[in-house]
Amino acid sequence: MARVSIFFHAFLSFYVALSRAAPSYSEPPTVTKRAAPPASTVCGDIIRNASLVVPAKQAFDCLTSVPFNAAVATRFLQYFNDTIQFQSNLAYLKNPPSSYQQGPADIVGGLAQIQTAIDNGKFANEYEFEATLQALIFSTHDAHLNLIAGILGVFTFGSSYDIASVSLDGIQLPKVYFSDDLTDSENDGDWQPSAISQINGLDAQDYLNDFAATNAIGSLESHADFNQLMTSPAQDIQTIFSTWGGNSMFYPGDELTFLLENGTHISTNWWAVYTYPSSTGALETGGDFYNFFVLGYYPASYDPNATESSTAGPTAAATSAATSTAQEAPAASSALASWDNVAYPNPDIAQPGLGTFGAGFVSGYFLKQSSVAVLSLPSFQEPGSAVGSFSDTVTRFLNASKAAGMQKVVIDVQQNYGGDVFLAVDTYKQFFPNQEPYGGSRMRATNPTNAMGDAITSYWQGLNDTDADYYNFYEDEWMPLTRLNADTNNNFTSWSEFYGPHIYNGDSFTTTQRYDFSDNLFSTLSTDDEDDDGFTVYGTDGRPANTTQPYAAKDIIILSDALCSSACAVFMEMMHHEAGVRTVVAGGRSSYGPMQAPSMSRGAVAETIDSLDYRIGVAQQLLQESSNPTSANFLPNRTTATDVWITYADINLRDQVRKGGDIPLQFVYEAATCRIFYTPKTFYNYTALWTYAADAIWNNAALCVQDSTGYSTTSTTNTTAPPSSVLPSPQPSTSTDPKMGSIILSVLSGSSPSAHAPILDTGAPTKQGQLAYEGTPCSSTKKCPTTDYFCLGSTSLKCDAATKKPIEGSFCVPVCNPNQGGKVVTSTCTNFGNCQPLNATVPGFANTGGTFAKGRNGYCDPPVPACRSTVTQGKFGNGNGGGDGDGALDPPEKRGVIQLF
Ligand SMILES: *[C@@H]1O[C@H](CO)[C@@H](O)[C@H](O)[C@H]1NC(C)=O
Ligand SMILES: *[C@@H]1O[C@H](CO)[C@@H](O)[C@H](O)[C@H]1NC(C)=O
Ligand SMILES: *[C@@H]1O[C@H](CO)[C@@H](O)[C@H](O)[C@H]1NC(C)=O
Ligand SMILES: *[C@@H]1O[C@H](CO)[C@@H](O)[C@H](O)[C@H]1NC(C)=O
Ligand SMILES: *[C@@H]1O[C@H](CO)[C@@H](O)[C@H](O)[C@H]1NC(C)=O
Ligand SMILES: *[C@@H]1O[C@H](CO)[C@@H](O)[C@H](O)[C@H]1NC(C)=O
Ligand SMILES: *[C@@H]1O[C@H](CO)[C@@H](O)[C@H](O)[C@H]1NC(C)=O
Ligand SMILES: *[C@@H]1O[C@H](CO)[C@@H](O)[C@H](O)[C@H]1NC(C)=O
Repeated sequence: MARVSIFFHAFLSFYVALSRAAPSYSEPPTVTKRAAPPASTVCGDIIRNASLVVPAKQAFDCLTSVPFNAAVATRFLQYFNDTIQFQSNLAYLKNPPSSYQQGPADIVGGLAQIQTAIDNGKFANEYEFEATLQALIFSTHDAHLNLIAGILGVFTFGSSYDIASVSLDGIQLPKVYFSDDLTDSENDGDWQPSAISQINGLDAQDYLNDFAATNAIGSLESHADFNQLMTSPAQDIQTIFSTWGGNSMFYPGDELTFLLENGTHISTNWWAVYTYPSSTGALETGGDFYNFFVLGYYPASYDPNATESSTAGPTAAATSAATSTAQEAPAASSALASWDNVAYPNPDIAQPGLGTFGAGFVSGYFLKQSSVAVLSLPSFQEPGSAVGSFSDTVTRFLNASKAAGMQKVVIDVQQNYGGDVFLAVDTYKQFFPNQEPYGGSRMRATNPTNAMGDAITSYWQGLNDTDADYYNFYEDEWMPLTRLNADTNNNFTSWSEFYGPHIYNGDSFTTTQRYDFSDNLFSTLSTDDEDDDGFTVYGTDGRPANTTQPYAAKDIIILSDALCSSACAVFMEMMHHEAGVRTVVAGGRSSYGPMQAPSMSRGAVAETIDSLDYRIGVAQQLLQESSNPTSANFLPNRTTATDVWITYADINLRDQVRKGGDIPLQFVYEAATCRIFYTPKTFYNYTALWTYAADAIWNNAALCVQDSTGYSTTSTTNTTAPPSSVLPSPQPSTSTDPKMGSIILSVLSGSSPSAHAPILDTGAPTKQGQLAYEGTPCSSTKKCPTTDYFCLGSTSLKCDAATKKPIEGSFCVPVCNPNQGGKVVTSTCTNFGNCQPLNATVPGFANTGGTFAKGRNGYCDPPVPACRSTVTQGKFGNGNGGGDGDGALDPPEKRGVIQLF
């Protein structure tokens, strides 16, 4: 029997909702099988068998059978080129300062090269085109720049052998092992696992460095790329595959062989995970795939009224499903006392709902022997309803930690991909109540931005606070009047004051802005905190701090695995650079020397493509109604510019910049105070890891990796950047291995064969995502018409006009997949609330226990209508980015002015 990692098993069992004993690869998990048609194709085989895991080669054969259409690709490239102009760091990517540890990337030039390749018929199939574009996007190493569209989002690839890189004594260079071997030998004692010396005939470290450079998403140096391949408990609790273990976007090849140091040979193959197990209708050919996944059309044979039994439905539900009722609302996640993961001990303090299946992320641990308290923050991404409890739990942690006599604090942010920046600020303020974070940022100043800002800002200036659009655009990116000019610390008074432009590195940028952290309307709208009080940042006028700072900066450390992105990087910038907290970073490539700590996006904000398109549309509508309607043509109409179905895409809209600095933080070298290697004892035991990290800073500096210390800077220290001799040599972003790398290189070098003629299926397909049954009433007897919907009970979508109260009932809500390529994306419900993980047993759907696991396991939770009476309907309050979709005022209430109900 094939050997399969327990870690891979664990994910897969979340994924297919089977028992822990779960799948064997000879018989992949299946759903209802359909009869094979006479002429089968490789894509059809996958869909018909509804296999969630197939050999990578099979997926690759399917993907490369999808035809290419030059006209569609050209339109898409133009749309993407217009979009990328909003990406803040184009000039810095093209011409990075020497402190940047990845290679330069010329995105606009690369798009032109791809267009030339289209024009010259170089792309033989859709996969070659999409992989080439995606490789260009990956070369930006920006975790805020993502594109999940077309056929590249259909499968992810990975190995069933999870790996970890550990140093046996913490001092010598680490080697890579199978994770299972390490945990087994820790548990069983007395045997020494053997390290992996070769992979596919190449030196294991070389192979992995190359694989990481090709497949890791958005990290700022090769150490962080490498960490993305490794098993991590903080990743496991968020049910994300590692890049190696199932989350690679590019085809890695067919066979996979390992040679261990003790001479053992293992021969296996790469796997593909099908990420769209839902009713696609009968997709048989590559043309069907093109229609469905690229254009967003159902096949002509698709019957929207068909039940699960006649379409390739979603994953097999637990057998108990049949006995449950369909109309139950997915229940609120039950509060677990701890993470259900052996690496985490039982917490002393836990946020309500803490757990892999819950909404709580914050937990605290008191290591009594060493008087060290640990605050674990694996995410800042809370739904609005849990923002308050996140903050309260940090408060409880600090109070209890002081009361328990803990002398030091370790803040663990491993695998923290960000979330609410105001939660990051709030947490910072709880540690440093007397300090004001800087948080400066700016966007690119271009003509479209200027046109949008002008139109939206003057529209907002004409509103008063009884107008819904006053709230819908209060924190809009193109309405700066509620933000502070970093130079004056006063609100911007006009769009042009904000716009600038200011020239840096040969490009134009706006004036640097700061948030007004004491503006609780802003913080409430920004965090979607729906309760009556909204969200007020700790230590501002509305929520005064206990001004006794609980711990001195020297008694706090932050532990990171470099995979800290967005709001997490903002948090580290404030804690480390501004307040002087020391940082410990773990892992990295097998070399000595320093390593950076926040090594994913250090951008200030990711803007989704939906939200951007909506803003562009608003500005165009306003300009069309103005005295100069032609000024609306600053960009093509976004709703008609592309016909490619985009599941999710975003860009980095604003760069973070330091006070007095002009280089975006993304490009600044930011070494951790101390780097440590994982060891067999610490890699899957956080009690041991936290103790080790604390010892490295406070007791035994020899635990820090050789040459890793002395490069860290704060606002009060100014160390020079590390010499190149202690930095790892950069890896080329695109693999030279004869897999996906060769396709891209040959396309861009002009040596690929000429394209096939497109073979699109004809017929009368319907556009995917037509939400025909959204909001249709349903019940236990009157089910939703198709498996694209859940029947959500005890909810309300509308207000009763007379009573101003919400009308309760059960309604059909769209199914969605909150986990896009390992990234939790709750905004995939274009016009129907946020995508929430399913935590209820509904016939035909896998109950994933509320986890953001991969697979199509969520439902679009419609926003509760606010039913308020004294607010005029907003012109643009359609919820597509602006407001919450009910056309009513968002919280908080302006007390005394607006009446609830
Ligand atoms: C992309 O947009 C830029 C700026 O508008 C333009 O200069 C360039 O020619 C465009 N490239 C392509 C391939 O359309
Ligand atoms: C070699 O190492 C592997 C992994 O640690 C182990 O499973 C295997 O039994 C070892 N083989 C020999 C011959 O020692
Ligand atoms: C699906 O069912 C609805 C309601 O019963 C009906 O109006 C519609 O015509 C049906 N659609 C198809 C394609 O059969
Ligand atoms: C705000 O708008 C309301 C309704 O449009 C109007 O009655 C009121 O006079 C306005 N208030 C101010 C201060 O402009
Ligand atoms: C900035 O504008 C907001 C909204 O109009 C207002 O509440 C706030 O007091 C202003 N802040 C300053 C410093 O002027
Ligand atoms: C303020 O914090 C200090 C130290 O954490 C604590 O001793 C004190 O009780 C707190 N005061 C209040 C009013 O909570
Ligand atoms: C864009 O095109 C759509 C569809 O044709 C149309 O409804 C919309 O009004 C257009 N928007 C603008 C700003 O022209
Ligand atoms: C984790 O390590 C600590 C010592 O650092 C040890 O006491 C504990 O038993 C270990 N936990 C597990 C689950 O092995």
